[in-house]
Amino acid sequence: MTTNSRQVLLASRPHGAINEGNFRIVDVPLPQPGDGEVLVRNEWLSLDPYMRGRMSDAKSYVPPAALDAVMVGQTVGEVIASRDPRFAVGDKVLTALGWQSHGVAKAADLTKVDAKRAPPSYYLGVLGMPGITAWFGLFEIGQPKPGETVVVSAASGAVGSVVGQLAKAHGCRAVGIAGGEAKCDYVVGELGFDACVDHRGGKLLDDLRAACPAGIDVDFENVGGAVLDTALRLMNRRGRVVLCGLIAEYGATQPYGYTGLRSVLVNRIRMQGMIVFDWKDRYGEAVQGLAENLAAGKLKYRESIVEGLDNAPRALMGLLNGENFGKQLVKIA
Ligand SMILES: NC(=O)c1ccc[n+]([C@@H]2O[C@H](COP(=O)([O-])OP(=O)(O)OC[C@H]3O[C@@H](n4cnc5c(N)ncnc54)[C@H](OP(=O)(O)O)[C@@H]3O)[C@@H](O)[C@H]2O)c1
Repeated sequence: MTTNSRQVLLASRPHGAINEGNFRIVDVPLPQPGDGEVLVRNEWLSLDPYMRGRMSDAKSYVPPAALDAVMVGQTVGEVIASRDPRFAVGDKVLTALGWQSHGVAKAADLTKVDAKRAPPSYYLGVLGMPGITAWFGLFEIGQPKPGETVVVSAASGAVGSVVGQLAKAHGCRAVGIAGGEAKCDYVVGELGFDACVDHRGGKLLDDLRAACPAGIDVDFENVGGAVLDTALRLMNRRGRVVLCGLIAEYGATQPYGYTGLRSVLVNRIRMQGMIVFDWKDRYGEAVQGLAENLAAGKLKYRESIVEGLDNAPRALMGLLNGENFGKQLVKIA
């Protein structure tokens, strides 16, 4: 058994795009759990766009990640020592231990995952925070009605792929926006969306208009910038914009200059920001619904896996540039 834990620390705060120099890799002696704690060997690390925000010290909905501390993140791992009766060696758990191979967690902060229901890594994606975001964002804020048109950006990704498939199962026209032909082919051919538009194709407004002949009723916005600005121009009266993410703006040094706000006014559009934590008390409801859809074959899911913790910084850079194709994970062990 190993005697060390490998950790990736936040070494400096980025200005604009992140780089590998913002991180530092260290090995530390394996910690030992105290009463009410367990030692976890992390197997999977989730990489998520919000991490870019946590690397900065700008005011946000949660405090920034601390410098010279283990970079924040969710993992799924296995309990290898327990000093709490609720957890046994061999249990698979969802943790907030961050970018490290092993760590000690308070038992109260862990959630057991049911590895018989789905592969453990799914609890970081389709059955985890991204899937839960899709569920509540679409149904509680988007409030789609059968027959309406739902557009979702970053459509092949962790959140977007679930949004479009749920919208389709709900009887809506599901239209994706994604980067490149391969992702668009996957969104239509594999995920079953009605159409997908390539935001890199150079004629987003024309292509989106053609894909949404009856206009847009719900825009589930994951990207922002030119993508959101274009969608706003095609929104129907009393349309809803679920403002879930603005990934196109996370590494920008200048704010995007929106021009489509007139549409919000004249069409009485409701645009609402969402942070998934607001549904914390109801996560179980979403996971149950998502698991049922998964079991019924109504939700297809794809992972983009990078091997080895040392490659996590590079993989986060790739995620923020659209290099991932599906939910981005790091396989630690
Ligand atoms: N509010 C919340 O509680 C909450 C929770 C989870 C996630 N989110 C947000 O949801 C969004 C999607 O997250 P995810 O985890 O599902 O990530 P993801 O979609 O799996 O991966 C990110 C994708 O964003 C797209 N992208 C990146 N830079 C872009 C740019 N400049 N212009 C257009 N597209 C760009 C890329 O897809 P293409 O190659 O297709 O462009 C990339 O693959 C993010 O904005 C994230 O912050 C919000």
